[in-house]
Amino acid sequence: EKGNHRHFMAKEMHEQPEVVSHTLAHYLDLAAETVLLEADLPFDFTGLERISIAACGTAYYAGLIAKYWFEQIARLPVEIDVASEFRYREAPLPKNGLAIVISQSGETADTLASLRYARQEGQKVMAVINVPTSTIARESDAVMPTLAGPEIGVASTKAFTCQLATLAAVAVAAGRARGVLTPERERELVRALIEVPRLMNEALRLGPQIEVLARSFAKSQDVLYLGRATSYPLALEGALKLKEISYIHAEGYAAGELKHGPIALIDEKMPVVVIAPHDQVFDKTMSNMQEVAARGGRIVLLTDARGAAEAGIETEATLVLPEMHPFVTPLVYAIPIQLIAYHTAVQMGTDVDQPRNLAKSVTVE
Ligand code: M6R
Repeated sequence: EKGNHRHFMAKEMHEQPEVVSHTLAHYLDLAAETVLLEADLPFDFTGLERISIAACGTAYYAGLIAKYWFEQIARLPVEIDVASEFRYREAPLPKNGLAIVISQSGETADTLASLRYARQEGQKVMAVINVPTSTIARESDAVMPTLAGPEIGVASTKAFTCQLATLAAVAVAAGRARGVLTPERERELVRALIEVPRLMNEALRLGPQIEVLARSFAKSQDVLYLGRATSYPLALEGALKLKEISYIHAEGYAAGELKHGPIALIDEKMPVVVIAPHDQVFDKTMSNMQEVAARGGRIVLLTDARGAAEAGIETEATLVLPEMHPFVTPLVYAIPIQLIAYHTAVQMGTDVDQPRNLAKSVTVE
């Protein structure tokens, strides 16, 4: 079932252009370049006061990216927490509130408990779910399926990018419903989404370059990931992915937090992965990268041709991605992030699909 791939994770990474394309086709009118949310939603985006998101692990990072989208595109305030905290926090929730839970399996115990808490507090619950028959799907008011197909590898890859595709479409739908988006702006965002599968295919071509890079990553004790805006949650996701399958300690940080602590870690041994598409925060991220370079840090830069030309700093490696609308960068930059973890783990000789101590679905707290 792995086809000609060595691991399920490799197969699932390479399926992403196709499954993201399916997922997008479910939520977008490709010809009219608009969003369509087929489900009759049991709530109205216009009257919403706030969204509360709860999820675990990689699904939580998808939610953190969606927070930026809902706030920018739909001007909707979002609070987000890991489900294990949300369920016990006794957070007061607004009268007119929507809770969004995100889960590949739909069986994660803490996420299910968060859903139940939110419902009990009078929230409508929308679930972004990959397994439509799951408990979370059954107990939610609205189900937004991700069409990733079965994900076997413990490290979530295609479920993550399909969650992002779904949440991006929902954010655009919310922006439209709330009168924030003009029809032209909606078309611009939808067109950007339609480009994603092609951009992902291009990003997958970085495989051989990343395979070489992984040899030096495999010798590292620690790796730091930095990013701003939606590249910040991606930095967290990159660190999680590396930890879980290669067992190398890794941390993700908002690049602006560097001088509030983690800069003390910089030396000539630790790779620093800087996620910096040429977007509205590019210059800020570059000044953080300069701070790393000034301390002899080993920089691996993920950017596009324009970013590479403007970076002006010597890096250990620069992975050049295609240029794209800043809205969709997390979907495409997820690919090199996954490939780095994958090839490093293969170098280390770990069990990529079944990493130690981990289960695919965490049904106990
Ligand atoms: O099935 P879920 O999406 O609810 O699972 C949530 C996390 O357990 C999951 O994303 C976990 O962090 C993955 N192993 C990450 O690769």
